[in-house]
Amino acid sequence: DLGEYRHFMLKEIFEQPQSVVGTLENRLGSDHVLPALVGAADALERLAQVDEIQIIACGTSYHAGLVGRYWIEANTDIPCNVEVASEYRYRRQPPRKNMLLVTISQSGETADTLAALEKIKESQGCLATLTICNVAESSLTRESDMSLMTMAGPEIGVASTKAFTTQLVALQLLMVLLMQAKGGDKAKIAQIVADLRKLPALIEQALDLHPKIEALAEHFIEKNHALFLGRGEMYPIAMEGALKLKEISYIHAEAYPAGELKHGPLALVDSEMPIVTVAPNTALLEKLKSNLEEVRSRGGELYVFADRDAHIIAADNLHVLEMPHVPELLAPIVYTIPLQLLSYHVAVLKGTDVDKPRNLAKSVTVE
Ligand code: M6R
Repeated sequence: DLGEYRHFMLKEIFEQPQSVVGTLENRLGSDHVLPALVGAADALERLAQVDEIQIIACGTSYHAGLVGRYWIEANTDIPCNVEVASEYRYRRQPPRKNMLLVTISQSGETADTLAALEKIKESQGCLATLTICNVAESSLTRESDMSLMTMAGPEIGVASTKAFTTQLVALQLLMVLLMQAKGGDKAKIAQIVADLRKLPALIEQALDLHPKIEALAEHFIEKNHALFLGRGEMYPIAMEGALKLKEISYIHAEAYPAGELKHGPLALVDSEMPIVTVAPNTALLEKLKSNLEEVRSRGGELYVFADRDAHIIAADNLHVLEMPHVPELLAPIVYTIPLQLLSYHVAVLKGTDVDKPRNLAKSVTVE
């Protein structure tokens, strides 16, 4: 039922505060996360032995995994790799005894992700397998030792929206569980848990930008290309923004870590190339600002979603949309919202089939 909404995608974008509440519900203690959330009585003992993590996923779920790596490596001493399932499944990996294999999937039925999991189980083995998944009775939950369910509810739009943000929430829960299992800093854990409780309200504030983003969308409909920039854990968010735009509006979009501009993509920048940037007030902000200047001085049209304390001031060719102030760990989740809304409105203006983009299926169950 679409209710007041014109498309499922828009409805699902606006459901995100609720789906985040659902994903946090009954999983947070006063100052810690509850180990039962991965569905194994001995979760903490198992996770205590992990000395390496491999994340496997496809598409949007892969982007969630990339953010997860930044978080896990910033807050634990466990090295974490991330790879798309279609690559991982066809190459040899050296045996890794104490590895936790994490698959991420909305549907739990993606053929490549399942095949990668099966391959690991049959060949090299690993310490344990865990899936972050949105469908309780899926193949991935059945085949994995532990399951951390996202509580997004059914997602109808082919473009993943609420599934992605709840995957990010699940990755933070997993990160905190790993911190607890490894005897991490209690005060830091308590702070992350307290911040997670603020997330639904922050997403609401980002959704309030809706009318402003709708107005921005006009600027994109005549364009053939767009560039998305981010640094650190915001780089995968730029990748996700670019995927959303190409998937539903059919505009070619690419994401780059802003520091890579000079190594090639700067050659593409002219007044016909809109450049979308996510700029929370994080450690890499000053570096990002100098990257933006490089673009502006070449005539690029910049659209920046920025923290008010980032002090990025609107000017010619520089459009600034002010975002709510967010704790650093929540920035990737909150900054995803305006990028979803932007691609949605560009697609609506272009008249594409937003909920069922051409050539795509909701769940890719064949190779
Ligand atoms: O069900 P999964 O999360 O395993 O699906 C993976 C991708 O096919 C999926 O995320 C796809 O990239 C989205 N439609 C993008 O919006």
